[in-house]
Amino acid sequence: MYSDNTQRKLTKPVTLSTLKQMKADQEKISVLTAYDASFTNVMNAAGVEMILVGDSLGMVIQGRDSTLPVTIEDMCYHTAAVKRGNTNAFIFSDMPFMSYSKPEQALDNAAKLMQAGASMIKLEGGSWLADTVRLLSQRGIPVCGHLGLTPQSVHKFGGYKVQGKTQEAADLLLKESLELVDAGADMLLYECIPTELGKTLTEAVPVPTIGIGAGPHTDAQVLVVQDMIGLNLGHTPRFVKNFLTDGRNITEAFEAYVKEVKDMTFPGPEHGFKS
Ligand code: KIV
Repeated sequence: MYSDNTQRKLTKPVTLSTLKQMKADQEKISVLTAYDASFTNVMNAAGVEMILVGDSLGMVIQGRDSTLPVTIEDMCYHTAAVKRGNTNAFIFSDMPFMSYSKPEQALDNAAKLMQAGASMIKLEGGSWLADTVRLLSQRGIPVCGHLGLTPQSVHKFGGYKVQGKTQEAADLLLKESLELVDAGADMLLYECIPTELGKTLTEAVPVPTIGIGAGPHTDAQVLVVQDMIGLNLGHTPRFVKNFLTDGRNITEAFEAYVKEVKDMTFPGPEHGFKS
């Protein structure tokens, strides 16, 4: 255990069942990225329900210009650090670039992340991942699919661009979402898609959805922690809001984020995208 924090707001462990029940109850879920024990500990105190050990660590921790160089060893190292700082939040971790290009390879690497402390893994892609998701799910590994803007494919997209803007692209996202759920995905994350599409997809799938730049209607919201405390290096994406303002300390900034996610004041229209 990293350290005790008597102010912790999560009084019992958040599990996949808790999160599925929150979707059913229409209670919004707060998610932030973390890569170390200290931030995790403060997020616990602020009541953040889910912590993503994102491969965004390649950019915000390692100073690289994309997530592509991140390795499974990097992900295991940071997952273990987050796990040591955590009490009750639900931890999930990214499978890095090319660590899941074949189902058996994905199983080996997902097992490493689960042994390091993750309770679910996240991977980027659509229909081509159905067999992989099925295999992981059958072996007892919860899976979150990441659709829309998938940063590991930045070179294929030709930049970090909003996805799902045409009717055809929106229909494809719905089809791929349902295929992943059918294969056993427990959650879906949508990045940079129009607000209305975020709503349609959230209503169409039976599992919790997490949004980043996907509007206020997804079941959960996630931000990269450095972005939401004003520590981003360079360009600030439209969907980011700095919560470390108005004389707040870090715990208060996280608490403000949780509150605004719950009452749907964040994200506002200024953080969303149109078709
Ligand atoms: O790596 C990451 O932090 C992510 C979020 C941007 C969703 O995947």
